[in-house]
Amino acid sequence: MAHTIAFLGSGRLASAIIRGLIAKNVCAPAEIAATSKTGTSAQALAHETGITFEPDLVRLLGPAEIVIVAFKPQSLATADPRLAELTTGKLVVSLLAGKRLARLAQSFPSARNLVRTMPNTPAAIGAGITAYCANQPLTDADRQTVGALLGALGQFLELDEKHLDAVTALSAGGPAFLFEFTAALREAGIAAGLPADVSERLTVETVLGSARLLARTGSSPEALRDQVVSPNGTTSAGLQVMETRQFRATLRDTILAATRRADELSRD
Ligand SMILES: NC(=O)c1ccc[n+]([C@@H]2O[C@H](COP(=O)([O-])OP(=O)(O)OC[C@H]3O[C@@H](n4cnc5c(N)ncnc54)[C@H](OP(=O)(O)O)[C@@H]3O)[C@@H](O)[C@H]2O)c1
Repeated sequence: MAHTIAFLGSGRLASAIIRGLIAKNVCAPAEIAATSKTGTSAQALAHETGITFEPDLVRLLGPAEIVIVAFKPQSLATADPRLAELTTGKLVVSLLAGKRLARLAQSFPSARNLVRTMPNTPAAIGAGITAYCANQPLTDADRQTVGALLGALGQFLELDEKHLDAVTALSAGGPAFLFEFTAALREAGIAAGLPADVSERLTVETVLGSARLLARTGSSPEALRDQVVSPNGTTSAGLQVMETRQFRATLRDTILAATRRADELSRD
């Protein structure tokens, strides 16, 4: 059977999508082919998942209906110029952080449609959230295809491209901010006198358990926060410090700085 999905790049994100597609029975390994710059990562992925390694660009893209662009954003400028013609009439889905639809249209001018996506690292375990936008309104069939692809990484939503810089800051950068928060909490536990391993365990389980509680109850974070707080109690004493030190303003500035930087970086 000829493949219908072609991956340009076979790194971490491509691997997560391919493994998710196969695990969820969205498509069979025979329907997927991939290449990579040196061939090493694509060959390894093919060996592990049963997909086809196809280093020849014409043979890779010829039978494909869908082309997933999964190399690093900086590789776009030096990518094989034949891609412009070889993607004619195909649905091109870009994973490249910070590459706008207008820029993608220069490299893939004859694609039947272009989709720009912004995933995040929890995608590696199928727990990601990906925002995407399309160059032209998606047909029902193409929207279904995009949903099947991104569903392999977790949840997904379609947004206007004007929101993608903020998405880059909030959900793509978000894991880093949460990990920094987690590390700070662990350090704070040590400062309060806990052994490092105990503080680590308490911190990680607190973050995980709280996230699960948030997801399962569907309550607002404020409501769940208030369930922990009693007037003049211990948590209240801690929250007062967070307020005095402007925790929310700090996070707002964090996200706004990341949004501005995403805008600057996507202006090429
Ligand atoms: N990881 C994430 O959670 C995440 C989140 C948001 C967005 N993204 C985006 O996803 C994309 C991929 O990220 P990643 O973390 O998966 O990268 P990665 O693990 O570094 O993999 C990059 C892949 O691209 C290949 N490659 C490089 N130049 C190429 C070319 N000209 N043609 C074909 N393949 C080429 C590499 O091949 P070799 O191994 O042979 O060198 C490798 O297979 C990036 O654009 C990134 O912005 C990733």
